[in-house]
Amino acid sequence: MKFFVDTADTAAIRELADLGMVDGVTTNPSLIMKAGRDILEVTKEICDMIEGPVSAEVVATEAKAMISEGKKLAKIAPNIAVKVPLTWDGLTACKALTSEGHMVNVTLCFSAAQAILAAKAGATFVSPFLGRLDDINLDGVQLIEDIRTIYDNYDFKTEILAASIRSVNHITDVARIGADVATVPPAVLKAMVAHPLTDKGLDAFLKDWAKTGQKIL
Ligand code: E4P
Repeated sequence: MKFFVDTADTAAIRELADLGMVDGVTTNPSLIMKAGRDILEVTKEICDMIEGPVSAEVVATEAKAMISEGKKLAKIAPNIAVKVPLTWDGLTACKALTSEGHMVNVTLCFSAAQAILAAKAGATFVSPFLGRLDDINLDGVQLIEDIRTIYDNYDFKTEILAASIRSVNHITDVARIGADVATVPPAVLKAMVAHPLTDKGLDAFLKDWAKTGQKIL
């Protein structure tokens, strides 16, 4: 399973990349706003740091303008995945951009039917949003399972990029199902290491070790 980090915070990306945890990065207009940086400048900095795909999202809503924006974003670096929304215009832009050899991440996917359309349009990645479905009492994890089944039925090559991940359980759930990628906020990725029994066990070992009076170094 690949981990993408869901942020435009370059310090957070670098910290996790140094640990070998980052296979790619996803951004969106809200994350760019949060970073308070120029989109072209911050995206270039991320692309220089990370070898894997870096998603940069278009903001036009009409296909022709999306394609123009997508081409401009793709010029930032060869590892850009142009992110387009799951609308007919977005699917049209996806088809055009992938036909020219660009990676495309079709985002804002909330149903299996939409995910089928993304695959038919040649998307490199489809991004189903788990957390936002859970927010309205729908089952985000079930959506990932349905898309996995459908893509496997037809051998669709589009990678399932589980997005809008809010918890460690989301990550293990989508890993069990076989999502190709999970894009995870840095804080959630860091929370994966935490377990009270690890802390308790370490504490007990260190107390016993102190009683031995020994040193390793
Ligand atoms: C990533 O590609 C998505 O834009 C992101 O995961 C959305 O997450 P949110 O629902 O927490 O904003």
